[in-house]
Amino acid sequence: MTDTVSFHALVPAAGTGSRMGGDMPKQYLSLLGRPVIAHTLDALLRVPRLASVCVVLSPGDTWWERYAWPDDRRLRVLRSGGATRAASVAQGLAVLAGETSAKDWVLVHDAARACLAPEQVDHMLDELREDPIGGLLAMPLADTLKRADAAGRVDATLPRAGLWQAQTPQMFRIGLLADALRAYPDVTDEAGAIEAAGHAPRLIESGGANFKITYPQDLALAASILASRKEPRE
Ligand code: C5P
Repeated sequence: MTDTVSFHALVPAAGTGSRMGGDMPKQYLSLLGRPVIAHTLDALLRVPRLASVCVVLSPGDTWWERYAWPDDRRLRVLRSGGATRAASVAQGLAVLAGETSAKDWVLVHDAARACLAPEQVDHMLDELREDPIGGLLAMPLADTLKRADAAGRVDATLPRAGLWQAQTPQMFRIGLLADALRAYPDVTDEAGAIEAAGHAPRLIESGGANFKITYPQDLALAASILASRKEPRE
């Protein structure tokens, strides 16, 4: 029997991006002449299977209305972001939970991962739609890990076998994720709450292009990745 679950994207965008410096939240910094988050939303809206794409802004956000946004009925905006990313996600989930079935899926995606490819989202939907738990895009760790001491010298080299870097989207059933975040609000990603609730999310291998824009120099890298995709292919 074909199930009729739906898929929804949730984009927490209520952060200030303090590591970027400057006054403008990083999701609004200019990337190829548009705000960072416009590229992120483009990628999600290019996935026809996503029934809605919900952006969670800070209640005090005065930037959003200064720009033009994709004319797509699936895009919606909530101004109820919280003090932490988990609180912003929980606010978005509360609204989605009232309109969907607990078994429907939500894909939580960082506003600042602007180089997500729609094909990656499609791949994720195919891989996880029958999964009992859900999972996340992630990348096997390539670098050797060092732990620093207080003087900034290497204290230890840590084994990297089996270690992955978590990315987003992180895709879970709406009901399961809402319960997990309610019980474990002090997490840094959605998978962390699901793990704390005793489940094992699946890792879906991704690449380095889906990185999170965090430092000023990241904008040039994101611009070159996005521009290379727009070049005509033979
Ligand atoms: O700061 P960081 O890059 O870890 O934020 C990840 C995502 O969470 C960003 O899209 C940011 O806007 C969002 N966020 C949020 N509410 C907060 C803090 C971060 O929606 N209070």
